[in-house]
Amino acid sequence: MASQINNTILRILLVFLLVPNMQQRCFAATGKQQQIPCLFVFGDSSLDDGNNNNLVTLAKSNYPPYGIDFPKGPTGRFTNGRTIVDFIAEFLGFDNYIPPFATARGREILKGVNYASGAAGIRIETGRTQLGDRISMDRQLKNHQITLLEMNQMLGNHKKSTAEYLSKCIYVVGVGINDYLINYLLPQYYPTSTIYTPQQYAVVLNNQLSQQLTSLYKYGARKFALFGLQSACGSGTTSSTCVDNINNVIELFNVELKSHVAALNHYLAGASFIFINTTGIGLTSPFLASLVSKVSCCEALSTTGLCVPFGRTCSNRSEYAFYDSIHPTEIVVSVFAGRAYKAQSPSDAYPFDISHLAQH
Ligand SMILES: *[C@@H]1O[C@H](CO)[C@@H](O)[C@H](O)[C@H]1NC(C)=O
Ligand SMILES: *[C@@H]1O[C@H](CO)[C@@H](O)[C@H](O)[C@H]1NC(C)=O
Repeated sequence: MASQINNTILRILLVFLLVPNMQQRCFAATGKQQQIPCLFVFGDSSLDDGNNNNLVTLAKSNYPPYGIDFPKGPTGRFTNGRTIVDFIAEFLGFDNYIPPFATARGREILKGVNYASGAAGIRIETGRTQLGDRISMDRQLKNHQITLLEMNQMLGNHKKSTAEYLSKCIYVVGVGINDYLINYLLPQYYPTSTIYTPQQYAVVLNNQLSQQLTSLYKYGARKFALFGLQSACGSGTTSSTCVDNINNVIELFNVELKSHVAALNHYLAGASFIFINTTGIGLTSPFLASLVSKVSCCEALSTTGLCVPFGRTCSNRSEYAFYDSIHPTEIVVSVFAGRAYKAQSPSDAYPFDISHLAQH
């Protein structure tokens, strides 16, 4: 706390005494230069930072004990602290986290916007029956178009310079797990598993995702970091969302996603797509294997797997793999984000990691 206050005072002093320019302030304070102009985020609860707060949905996390280790407390992040994208924004030298589309206003959108929404999927119907409203990938793309209209005006209404600006930004995408957990694996509510085999479904999902990514490319995106799916079944012994063979089914999606990355790199001129092997990172980290994974850190609801509002938590969050029954703790997230940014093994990121994507 004391060091936080000192840090704040230092920043204020720097602002008023040294560098009145907002952007300069952060370089002076952190000593890090922002590597790319902006960061856009699409996906589900693993990346959401507040877009569901005002939706009519059970997929919400803007209440304690979520955010117990986050400076601003509960914000709509589905973990105790920072998300993967929060870490990546830090690594890339941003001085602020990327604001959610729901509240992003004014010139802050020039540094990027987060469209991710808990319970969202690639498919429009995903999550509908269980949780309520959520912003599907197609709606996230529509919201991005709204941002782009505003950005274009701020950047002088010059399509070419806006395109030039966007081509340097990174687009992080983490989506697909809900198309399994709250769609394919619930045959009593969704017909997808009677229509497609697991292998066919992996292809169908990735074809649709590739179309969505191609739309982003047409809007100006050139640098994409796509996160593979990670099993949500660690502590899920009581969670209704967990089934036995889920890891095998999810790996089919990941293998397919990686080959779509290769295809997109081939067909979309000037674009760089990378695949982050989340499953592989999880399997090859001795540290992650040492964490408590049979029970969640917070007291979780058996219905949704989310934390009981104002419920109890474990005392040391760094000893647990799962914060609620579905979402990893900040310490786990930090390992995924760290190896996505700087790969520790060749299988972590394909064809290269986010630090290279930024320079590419
Ligand atoms: C992810 O990494 C694991 C462990 O290194 C590897 O066995 C697996 O093939 C990788 N998956 C993909 C889709 O590249
Ligand atoms: C919490 O757990 C971590 C990991 O085991 C350990 O390094 C740390 O010292 C613990 N913190 C406290 C306050 O006990």
